[in-house]
Amino acid sequence: MDYAKFGVPKLDEYLGGGLDRNSISLIVGRSGIGKTILAAQWAAEGARNGETVIYISTTMNKYNCRDYLSRFSFMKDVYDKIHWRFIRVEPKYLLPMTKEKIKEGLEAVYGISSDLIDRVVFDSCTDLEKTLADPVLYRRAIRYMADFAYKYEVTSVWVEEAPMVGPWSETKNFVETVLFMDILRIPDGYARAMRILKKYRTPHPLEWFPYEISNDGIVIKDGWFVRKDYEYKFKPHRED
Ligand SMILES: Nc1ncnc2c1ncn2[C@@H]1O[C@H](COP(=O)(O)OP(=O)(O)OP(=O)(O)O)[C@@H](O)[C@H]1O
Ligand SMILES: [Mg+2]
Repeated sequence: MDYAKFGVPKLDEYLGGGLDRNSISLIVGRSGIGKTILAAQWAAEGARNGETVIYISTTMNKYNCRDYLSRFSFMKDVYDKIHWRFIRVEPKYLLPMTKEKIKEGLEAVYGISSDLIDRVVFDSCTDLEKTLADPVLYRRAIRYMADFAYKYEVTSVWVEEAPMVGPWSETKNFVETVLFMDILRIPDGYARAMRILKKYRTPHPLEWFPYEISNDGIVIKDGWFVRKDYEYKFKPHRED
């Protein structure tokens, strides 16, 4: 099986090889947690393999994106191979929302034939959700985006900001893999860690695994974080 790898040791292994081709995955976490860096690593890995990669950013522009991301070691020699697309999500491009409108919008953003595209990053869904400001419209928009990705056999990573309080959006229900990045309180302070909330078709660890951010991007550290206290404990059946 040919997986769409991150090129991040341990993470690809925990995912059973990488992300499944022609699937949609979600990287979710609070602001500043490392979502864009991880998505950029995945994009860079694709470009390094000679794949056609599109990175759609709703918040950066071509200047601050280059200044920020091209400095990471994983972008060496590949930054200019990625098709960067800087867009502003506005209601006038989306409404009235139809499948046709989303398709035309995406084709215009891609700027190259959809059949040729291997990987797409959409960073971030949160902008789309806030612009639409309506859960029903948002659900339709991402369903149309998903249909389009499956039709053209594009492997996608969507990025979403987790709210500080309140419920998560519905995006997680439309994707096959969810990677959740967070900061955990540990006895001597805080630690960055992530976990795989789901991945269809693959057995995967449930524990949190620590990571650091450096000039090499996201680096997974050894070991796991597990809860100290348990609400449930397994008790085997005893035959008398
Ligand atoms: N070169 C670096 N070395 C170490 N840490 C870094 C480096 N560059 C960025 N960081 C860390 O990564 C964080 C930003 O990561 P990233 O841009 O991926 O966040 P994000 O989750 O996409 O946030 P947002 O929701 O604001 O877009 C910074 O807040 C900082 O903690
Ligand atoms: Mg970001």
